[in-house]
This record gives sequence, C-alpha cells and structure tokens, in this order.
Amino acid sequence: MCGIVAYVGHREACPIIIKGLKRLEYRGYDSAGIALMNGSLNVYKKKGKVSELEAFIADKNVHGTIGMGHTRWATHGEPNDVNAHPHYSTSGKIAIIHNGIIENYAALKTLLLEKGHTFQSDTDSEVFINLIEDIRTTTGCSLVEAVRLALHEVVGAYAIVVLSKDDPNHIVAARKGSPLVVGVGEGEYFFASDATPIIEYTNDVIYLNDYEIAVVKDGQLDIRTKEDVQQTPYIQRLELALESIEKGGYEHFMLKEIFEQPRSILDSMRGRMIAERNHLMMGGIREYENKFANANRILIVACGTSWHAGLVAEYLIEDLARIPVEVEYASEFRYRNPIVSENDIVIAISQSGETADTLAAIELAKSKGATIFGICNVVGSSIARATDAGAYTHAGPEIGVASTKAFTAQVTVLTLIAMIIGSKRGTIETTKLHQLIAELEQIPAKVEQTLKLDKQIEEISEIYKDATNFLYLGRGYNFPVALEGALKLKEISYIHAEGYPAAEMKHGPIALIDEQMPVVVIATKDSSYEKIVSNVQEVKARKGKVIAIVTEGDTTIPAMADHVIEIPETSEHLMPLLSVVPLQLLSYHIAVMRGCNVDQPRNLAKSVTVE
Ligand code: F6R
Repeated sequence: MCGIVAYVGHREACPIIIKGLKRLEYRGYDSAGIALMNGSLNVYKKKGKVSELEAFIADKNVHGTIGMGHTRWATHGEPNDVNAHPHYSTSGKIAIIHNGIIENYAALKTLLLEKGHTFQSDTDSEVFINLIEDIRTTTGCSLVEAVRLALHEVVGAYAIVVLSKDDPNHIVAARKGSPLVVGVGEGEYFFASDATPIIEYTNDVIYLNDYEIAVVKDGQLDIRTKEDVQQTPYIQRLELALESIEKGGYEHFMLKEIFEQPRSILDSMRGRMIAERNHLMMGGIREYENKFANANRILIVACGTSWHAGLVAEYLIEDLARIPVEVEYASEFRYRNPIVSENDIVIAISQSGETADTLAAIELAKSKGATIFGICNVVGSSIARATDAGAYTHAGPEIGVASTKAFTAQVTVLTLIAMIIGSKRGTIETTKLHQLIAELEQIPAKVEQTLKLDKQIEEISEIYKDATNFLYLGRGYNFPVALEGALKLKEISYIHAEGYPAAEMKHGPIALIDEQMPVVVIATKDSSYEKIVSNVQEVKARKGKVIAIVTEGDTTIPAMADHVIEIPETSEHLMPLLSVVPLQLLSYHIAVMRGCNVDQPRNLAKSVTVE
C-alpha cells in the first residue's frame, strides 16, 4: 500500500520518479505527489492518479537531480490534495514520503502541538516529519541522526524517504515493516517500494532490512541500523525483465496476466517435476522433508486470494499426504491466541510477500516454535525473508490488483508440495502419483485450451453485466474456486457476489434465488458430480439463471443450465487450475463492460502492508 520512489544522481529526477510512480500505482492510487530539490525544496501533490499529478506539474519548475515521489492508498485522512504526500515539516525545510502506519501518531501529535508544531493534514506521516524536525531543532543533530532518533519514538510500520533543504546532497531512507529497495547504479541511487521502478536503470539492488537507515550523502551510500551500527550492504542481481512489467499489447494487466497462466504455471513447476522420470524435487523443501513428513499438523495462513489457494491446499494435503491441515485468515490467527506447537508447520502464502497480517501471523507462529514455510511470488519480499524455508511461485510480476496468475501458481506449488510429502509418507499410491504427475504436466496446455473460451465468456458477460448479485457454487476442490470467482467479480466490477459450498445453499442463500439471480456453478466431473447435479436442479426449480462450468462432453448439466462453459477434463485434484480461468475471464469482461477500472479497482491496493 502506497508506493515510494526516490532518486539521487546525475539525471533529471522528475521523469524517473513519475515513471516509477506509474509502475507502483498498483500499490495505491488515490493521490500522488513529488518533491524536488533545486536550490529549494518544492513539493507538488494532487488527489487522483499519477497522470493527474503529471498534468499538474507540466508547467512547474521540476528540474533537479534529487527528488522523491509517492502514490497513496489512504489510511489516515481522506484522499485529497492536502493529505497527499510528500509532507513538509512545520518550517517547510524538510519533507517526507511514508508508506505504513504510525500507531502512536495521536500521542506524538499532541506533544508536538504543545511544542508549537502545526499540521496541515490529517496524516500520521506529517507527525513523523515534525517529530524528525523537533528532534533536530532541540538537539542540533544532523538530519540522519534526527531520523535515527525518531525511529526510536515511533511505533508501527514505515518505509520513509526524507529530503532537507539544509542538506542539499542528502537523501535519507529507512524501513520497518514496509518494503524498501535501493537500486545501485553508476553514480546514482534509486529507492522504491519494489524493484519495478528501478530495473530500467540497474539490476543491482539492496533490500533494506527492518530498522535499517540508508543515507546517500555526496554520492556515497551508507547503511546503518537504528542502533547506529554500520552495515555491509548485500547487493543482489535482479533477474526481472522489463517486458514482464509492461502490458505487452493487452488492454489491461489483468487480461495479460490471465493469458500468461500457461507459462506461469509451467514456470512454477519448472525444475521441480520431471514427468518422464516421475521425479519431483523442490529445493526449498528438501531440508524440511522429514519435518513435513512428521508434522503433527499443517497450518496455512494467508489473506484473500492466497487464502483461497490455501483452502485448495487443505484438500490436497489431507487427501494426498494425510496430515491434518487448518487454513486460517492471517488476520484472525494473529489475534486469537492459537494453539501452535513445535511439531506444527505453518505455510504462509502471499503473492506480494508484504501482507502485514500474514507477516504478523508468521511472527506469532515463530514465537511458538513452529517451522515456517513461505510461498511467495515476490523475490526478496519481507515474508520470503521472514520464513525458515520456502518456495517461490515464479509467476512473474503481477500488476493487476486482482490476483489471477499468482493464484494458479500458488496452487501449482502447493500441489507439488502435497505430492512430495505424500510420496515421502507413503500415503499416495505410486500409480496415483504417476497419474497426477502426468496430468499436472498437461495443465499448461489445458489452460491454453480453456483460454480459447474467452469469446464465449465475453458473450455471456454481456447478458449478465447489469446483474446486481451473483452466487457462485462449487463442491470439493471447486468450493475454494467458487469463493475465488465471487471475490474476483466483486472486487473489480463492484457487483455483490457470494461463494458457497453448493450444498450449503439450502441453508440460507437459496432464499435469494429468483429469475434475476445468475448462479455460477462449477460442476466438473469429479467425486461430487452427482451431488452438484442435484444442486443445479434446485437452482433451476427456483428459476435462477445457471452458468455452468462443466467438463467437456458432459450432457447432463448442459440439459439443465442456461449457459455452459466446457473446460478440459483433468483429475479433480488439479481442477481448480482450470476451473478458475473462466471465472477470471467472466469477472474481467463484466468489469470492462461496466466501465470499471479493472487494474486499479476503487479502495483496493495490491500490497496490503497495513492491518
Ligand atoms: C484479490 C487479491 C487479494 C490478495 C490479498 C493477499 O484478488 O489480490 O485478496 O490475495 O490481499 O495478498 P498477498 O497474496 O500479496 O498476501
């Protein structure tokens, strides 16, 4: 949430910052701002998208080789020009951009008000910069020292960059809980919430750790801890390609990412499965195989779509590896004093690797002695670094706010894990394992085939685009897919949608069904097929409109449903990888037809770094 970019070097900072903010806009897009040093410290900010800021500064003096910019997802204070970042201190001499939440801001603000500081905005960030200014003026210390001392006073999460008029060759940044990457170029440095604004200029990056302060002074980078201990920076080389963060001819990132799934699923399996030899291996799990095999229980913690992938994993792991699994919303787990023991394994799933609740759940489980295994998409992210071991999903950057290819990549990795543990424990028959491996290998091609249904799904979308409610039903492995389909629709088209296990419909939601109600039923051929046939009949008896996702060649459900989307046959264990695709496309087309901003739906942000 919120995107940060800063630059210091020999080029004009403004174009680099504006371009970087556009790349980070998926993290928040209700207001944006920029600060540039060119003799004075000038701040320009605007409610709305980065393009509105760009238009606003078109006739301003935006020269300068040091600057910083911010795109905001509001936490404290409504989205408007005043609450947008950067924020000046009371004297107007220093300015800050901030991602995160300062929990004790109210108490700090009271103290600062008593000392004569004034505030223009409702934000916690303005309190932060005034605190820095207060420390500096009362102690007479340097800017860096004032930032360092301020970090001892604030409680909460932050990634900050600070510029000061009195220190024209300085840029100071720090992080705790919110991500911050430093790009190291030739005589230039970049700071950003993730690497996407940086890779155009350099592949060498440093991921700052919590409580670290990075300072560039007169062209030299210095990193030290909050305790003032100098650190040796660890420079990593990024493998990210520029094309992977551009739209590549698609109208929206979401559509591009849906269509990338054959490749992203393949990449998530690559090197981990050799189908011809029935061989499975996963570097991240190798050292922990015994631990997994002997685990009392596996706890899965995640949020949103990643939580849905966790639900699929519950079915997979319990069926194939026979270890009890519990799937928890990270936000509930962290606050409910859960029972966790040293023999438990906690799997944390997160596309961004930055979700605050998931990070906090990890810390809690760690403190109780559990082994933590992470499944993340973003390399070097906070969750990837907070876990004992883990596996990356290799889906490539996911920019559309609605998660699509990350979900199928997570399910792919979780399927491999379930198979690896199952074969280690001897709970999966060899023939069944070999069948599953052969089937999994076919999945990218079958997703490709499913994507060919796009046109048909677009036509169905046209019919239902004005509906006000949708129901999604599935059973077994398709139940989490029903939840995921409903989430996709509501988040990007703002149509109310509910996902339910099909049999639960009788316990309440059936009352909603009438001829106005579209009901998406995922009714592929699996062990609960006969049961879901009855559920479709129940919906039709109440005149609901059934959009059925069925296995190719099915004749029973097509005889009852209003619309039929036929997807390829596969094992029920792998079906979510196919059945979710038509639901992603359905929500995409409906949202486009309703004129919604598909890639940046209102009120949402890609990376939820606040609880
Ligand atoms: C929905 C969506 C969110 C995320 C959730 C967790 O399309 O994207 O529900 O899945 O915010 O995010 P990560 O996986 O980054 O922890």
